[in-house]
Amino acid sequence: MTILDLRSDTVTRPSAGMRRAMAEAEVGDDVLDGDPTTRRLEERVADLLEQEAALFFPSGTQANQVGAALHAAAGEELILEGQAHLLHYEMGGLAGLWGIQPHAVTTADGLLTPDLVTAAIRTGRYEPRTAAVAVENTHSAAGGRVMPEATLAAIADVAAGHDLPLHLDGARLWNAAAALGVAPGNLARHATTVMVSFSKGLGCPVGSCLAGSGALMERAWILRKRLGGGMRQSGVLAAAALYALDHHLNGLVEDHANARRLARALEGHPRVAAPVPDSNIVLLDLVGWSAADAVSRLAARGVLLAAYGATRLRAVTHRDVSADAIAAAGATIAQVLA
Ligand SMILES: Cc1ncc(COP(=O)(O)O)c(C=O)c1O
Repeated sequence: MTILDLRSDTVTRPSAGMRRAMAEAEVGDDVLDGDPTTRRLEERVADLLEQEAALFFPSGTQANQVGAALHAAAGEELILEGQAHLLHYEMGGLAGLWGIQPHAVTTADGLLTPDLVTAAIRTGRYEPRTAAVAVENTHSAAGGRVMPEATLAAIADVAAGHDLPLHLDGARLWNAAAALGVAPGNLARHATTVMVSFSKGLGCPVGSCLAGSGALMERAWILRKRLGGGMRQSGVLAAAALYALDHHLNGLVEDHANARRLARALEGHPRVAAPVPDSNIVLLDLVGWSAADAVSRLAARGVLLAAYGATRLRAVTHRDVSADAIAAAGATIAQVLA
């Protein structure tokens, strides 16, 4: 039986070309005196994101946590959307590592607005200090929702108007840019710090970058080391990311087309509502099925989806699943859940 793994875009395996690039990478000791391939990646990413500097991290979580710690201290608030990755999927790091109080703002669709951010900023002397704002683009839990550049720019203006830094969780910023048909820098330049991942749709085994000003990245270097994120011959991993930027970035539009195909294959289904997504994440709301039951029946037919709540499934398209495979997955899902 062919297995179609749509649980996440993180399941992507390094391609043959990527493995070759990793094997041939020129390396040094990045903690001692620098790794040349890692340096090339950091410079490339800083350029792409229209930021002064960038730093390579083992994971998006660690880069997000360092980004938050650059901007907020214990007892201070970070404004973020109520379903944000920073809040729900980073093991309580904001509170546990730094004592930062998340100020979660509920939205219907994962998209913060300038008005919602303005309303969340605290100004009373008897209230906790608002220290920073975070946005997520694309928004994972909201089904890969894309925040348009104008909204991001307007939120950045609100933050700047209150002297607040803006952190952008751009684990899938590449997808947001591809969906909007703009360069990643058009989005990233509005933020004070930006996290981007290579281990999702770009197909790398591991790796993320945090970007921002040179001064902020010097502080980030210390925090990364404190968290055990100093890596030695990291050029082997950075080479994978450089390869992905050269060879895999353009494929994201195909992942988005596949996600739309999957949602359309389920249109009108009596027991599944799957809105056509902005990017590569399809949410399937079930009628009369529990998510756990649906996941195990689909797995028995070779289609792996993730349970995302009691009656919701998530399917994520990626470079290891072709358009034909998506058509087959759509037909199997429609049949099994009928
Ligand atoms: C929106 C978002 N932010 C951050 C992360 C964390 O990345 P990592 O798994 O590399 O720690 C993820 C991971 O899926 C994510 O979806």
